Amino acid sequence: MASSNDYARKILNSPAHAEPCLVHSAKQILRAENWVFLTGKSHVEYRKVLNGLFTRKALGIYVGIQDQITREFLKRWLDEHTADPTPKPIMFTCRDLNMVTSLRVFCGSHIDDAGAREITQKYWDITLALELVNFPLPLPGTKVYRAIQCRKAAMKHLVSAAAKSKIAMASGKEPECMLDYWVRAMEEPGYKGRKDFTDDEMAMVVFSFLFASQDAMSSGLIYGFQHLADHPDIYKKVREEQDRVRGSNPDRPVTLEMLDEMPYLRAFVRESLRVKPPVTMVPYKTTKAFPIADDYTVPSGSMIIPSFYNSLHDPEVYPEPDVLNPERWLDPQSSANTNPKNYLVFGAGPHKCIGLEYALMNIAIVLADAITMMDWDHVRTEKSDEVEIIATLFPKDHCLMTFRPRASA
Ligand code: HEM
Repeated sequence: MASSNDYARKILNSPAHAEPCLVHSAKQILRAENWVFLTGKSHVEYRKVLNGLFTRKALGIYVGIQDQITREFLKRWLDEHTADPTPKPIMFTCRDLNMVTSLRVFCGSHIDDAGAREITQKYWDITLALELVNFPLPLPGTKVYRAIQCRKAAMKHLVSAAAKSKIAMASGKEPECMLDYWVRAMEEPGYKGRKDFTDDEMAMVVFSFLFASQDAMSSGLIYGFQHLADHPDIYKKVREEQDRVRGSNPDRPVTLEMLDEMPYLRAFVRESLRVKPPVTMVPYKTTKAFPIADDYTVPSGSMIIPSFYNSLHDPEVYPEPDVLNPERWLDPQSSANTNPKNYLVFGAGPHKCIGLEYALMNIAIVLADAITMMDWDHVRTEKSDEVEIIATLFPKDHCLMTFRPRASA
């Protein structure tokens, strides 16, 4: 276990000696041929193509979808809480919102509502199969078996979505989702990458994004809600900023330019993820003997785990590290800003999270819309500050909230 920032970063940035080592069940769930298992040069080449799906131009398409789906869900939450105002855990509320948002951003209307519902309902089986140790054979009744059934159901919809996207783009329609954007990008005159992506391969990429994002995003969202509700001073500042940027029109669709005008919200999201990083460590495995220090060489085939938590709670970089303090990100000269190497929420090196900007943007939009449309209260229990690990971190009581229509709109 590498607990210092230097050692953690050394592992993450030494692809010649160490590669990510996903839990055993991941290969069975994702399929061994999924791009996420590529290493070295072939990984770099493949990622180059996928990086194009997260450019600012691409995010400009996704932002509108994220905002629209979020508002639809928030209206539904408000209806539910108006009908029955007892506090409810937001664990599955947030997970469902996140899954539907991801499916709509990735596949647009190429997946119908029934398909999106099926994937959303079954996905929990995948989360449950992500334990470090699982029964090795995917026999009926095991968690891994159930997760594989979920992948098969999801892939059926995703393969069909990729095929429909190709037809839509060939007919000259405007790109409305990530698949469309990808298909259109491959037709651009200056495009130099591979063009022979089959429907199945594109579907596997989309599935890898769902797999990599669903648990981490849900964790980030839930702690975002909990942290804001528990810090009324911060809640107030986030709301003031929203009212300022949205002016007299709370229904105005959120754009990238509007998000640029919300530095306090962005600082809050960054800080919330620092205090409770969804992913606290990522197991890597040495592919050859790794001379990590002058006096120690890690033998080939060993698991080495860079810890992120320690870097993110280093008191020299983040004074009072357990205190939620968005202001530390607002001063360009602060130690938080001058030590970006400590911010390991999304990892580092060649496997650093590809969806980083997407993730920060989506969490920001959900919280911004929620604080604009609703008043919310967190019912604190003795388990609110305890952490449960279900693939990523969650508050042990799953965060009990009440939502009401905003009193002073
Ligand atoms: C708060 C949300 C998220 C967190 C905390 C998070 C965190 C991480 C971390 C720690 C890694 C491993 C990095 C390393 O080994 O150095 C990772 C990898 C990855 N993430 Fe994320 N992630 C989030 C959201 C997303 C989203 C939204 C997507 C896709 C849309 C995504 C796609 C991926 C992929 C594909 C990888 C593997 C990259 C590779 O191996 O090249 N993640 N993420």
